[in-house]
Amino acid sequence: MSLDRAVSLRDLEPLAEAVLDPAAFAYIASGAGDEHTLRDNEAAFARRSLRPRVLVDVTAVDPATSVLGTRVPMPVGVAPTAQHGLAHPGAEAETARGAGQVGALFCLSTLSSLALEEVAAAVDGPAWFQLYTHTDPAVTDDVIERAVSAGFGALVLTVDLPVVGQRDREVRGGYVWPTEPGRFGTFARYGDGAGAGLHRSQDTWAGLARIRERSAPLPLVVKGVLTGEDAALAVEHGAAAVWVSNHGGRQLDRTPASLDVLEEVVDAVDGRAEVYLDSGVRRGTDVLAALALGARCVFVGRPVLYGLALEGASGVARVLGMLQRELVTAMTLLGTPTVADVTRAHLA
Ligand SMILES: Cc1cc2nc3c(=O)[nH]c(=O)nc-3n(C[C@H](O)[C@H](O)[C@H](O)COP(=O)(O)O)c2cc1C
Repeated sequence: MSLDRAVSLRDLEPLAEAVLDPAAFAYIASGAGDEHTLRDNEAAFARRSLRPRVLVDVTAVDPATSVLGTRVPMPVGVAPTAQHGLAHPGAEAETARGAGQVGALFCLSTLSSLALEEVAAAVDGPAWFQLYTHTDPAVTDDVIERAVSAGFGALVLTVDLPVVGQRDREVRGGYVWPTEPGRFGTFARYGDGAGAGLHRSQDTWAGLARIRERSAPLPLVVKGVLTGEDAALAVEHGAAAVWVSNHGGRQLDRTPASLDVLEEVVDAVDGRAEVYLDSGVRRGTDVLAALALGARCVFVGRPVLYGLALEGASGVARVLGMLQRELVTAMTLLGTPTVADVTRAHLA
């Protein structure tokens, strides 16, 4: 099996399924419940059509942009996903190297197989740290402090996981959540009890101020917002960016597709923060639809894990490169030589 047979990101899942352990594949691919939201994430992009403008000079098309002031080669980054060791023995260090090969923004999950410092050593480009709080605030504080001193450029607080969603396909596939603390590299040093504290049901808006204080001077990104009300609250609580996400359809089944709530969130934020989106992004044209609705950047989850499983760092780089090439072609055909040229008028 190899990535050579993948023409687009759509081809990755069956290729990866053939090389992954069946339980690991079930964990990665599954969505919550009946997977309505999982399916709708991709279907929502298909429901939107683009309005190309012709006879625009597209001799030089450049997908570069900036996120929170950092220059990136394209408005597509790597979403934080847990346990890359299930996909490749090199785990998150391998993913970071792959993202670095194309200069893409890489967001590391709290639940990484390797300790965050081990991953930071492999980072070769812009990188952010995603935080799940711990029931012991001293552990949360220490993790934040470690992420700051390891050089991550932003703290992404994920707020859509007070408990882990019920993913039937994961259970049927025989996947069992690890309980030993050593399985999550960053928590290994806190001892035997630490693994059990990794649930977030105690998080509230009031607690956000404390996290913001601890993570200063890093900008705070709030990930997992699906309503205008919560987007406004995130901004009022000091978020520099709001990340629209339904966790790839893995948490509350029957939430809308991320794309379908993007406009509501962009309107509520009203220019006070950057807005990102993930869940179901698979095409260069998907990226353009999100940009047209006001997203500054999008993120991809599963396709990166599939690239990692198939070919390690170079697989990650190839998946991101595939998306970047599609994006350049789509921008050329849409008549938008830069990402700043993409507007609401480019969407039907
Ligand atoms: C296997 C897997 C593990 C994930 N782990 C995390 C995580 O640890 N933290 C987090 O904030 N989001 C996590 N997510 C959600 C992703 O960040 C992202 O929202 C989602 O994958 C985007 O959807 P996509 O896979 O359709 O691109 C995970 C997603 C997957 C598929």
